[in-house]
Amino acid sequence: MAFRLSTKRFGAALSASRASAFSRNYASAATATSNLPQETLDAIEKESSLPNSDPPPDSQTSRLVGSHLPYMVPTYVRPPPMFEKGEGCYLWDIENRRYLDFTAGIAVNALGHCDPGMANLIAQQSRMLIHTSNLYHNPWTGALSQLLIQKTKEAGGMHEASKTFICNSGSEANEAALKFARKVGKAVQPDGSKYGIISFHNSFHGRTMGSLSATPNPKYQKPFAPMLPGFKYGTYNDIDSINTLVMENICGVIIEPIQGEGGVNVATHDFLLALRRRCTEVGAVLIYDEIQCGLSRTGQLWAHAALPKEAHPDILTI
Ligand SMILES: Cc1ncc(COP(=O)(O)O)c(C=O)c1O
Repeated sequence: MAFRLSTKRFGAALSASRASAFSRNYASAATATSNLPQETLDAIEKESSLPNSDPPPDSQTSRLVGSHLPYMVPTYVRPPPMFEKGEGCYLWDIENRRYLDFTAGIAVNALGHCDPGMANLIAQQSRMLIHTSNLYHNPWTGALSQLLIQKTKEAGGMHEASKTFICNSGSEANEAALKFARKVGKAVQPDGSKYGIISFHNSFHGRTMGSLSATPNPKYQKPFAPMLPGFKYGTYNDIDSINTLVMENICGVIIEPIQGEGGVNVATHDFLLALRRRCTEVGAVLIYDEIQCGLSRTGQLWAHAALPKEAHPDILTI
């Protein structure tokens, strides 16, 4: 979510109607339950009652959005601004209004917008070679793999990391991890009975069928049910349930060391240690999904680097 600098208003990045509903609800909730000083509560009430200054119906933004809409599947409800440039932590919309970007591409623009070094590299490479498919070798995918393994170990993460599988999105990384787990299950139990996957309530692992099956949020799953067979869900940080949850028929367990979409819930070291122990006992692959919590967002390259090595995963998805 991006917040506009020029207005300082609650809900300013939301559409006019939703913003006012949002801010009014927020303001009354804050007033009803908060122990903030009265002066602050008054300011919240006042800000939330100010008119929203999103692009008006006759703006260039509204015209463009309106002309594009008929051609796009409406998968997301989006706030009105249309962004056309970025620099560092800032974004500009096509009305030339500046925003401080708290979204950072849902955490993936870790270097900020349009870092000059990165832009030069992209421009240079695009003039040399853009795509050959993974049917052929190129100088960079292997170099990236080597660097990822090296940096992961240097950072105190996944001490047995040895190989990477490079793909195009977080969901695809999780799909691959789940497929690796199923493949291991087949190798361990050739009769095909070891195919169960465990994930946890409040997790988010993606929108493809496998990663969605591991994401037990009815809002996401219901329209596309039935999910893939073999998925079961546990309670995050519930050590006592681990032994009955992760049984012999389980081939893989996928977990975010810090749940992002679920509300920044941190797994305890004891829970992850116990989960690791149980996975080893039953021969299940332990997968850490660090797609949102990784890449130095916790102060270390990977969130799990803070754990003792006895809690490290078999697969890390990023
Ligand atoms: C923890 C986690 N896993 C997986 C995904 C899916 O990644 P992508 O949107 O790149 O498919 C996300 C996306 O936000 C995520 O936060």
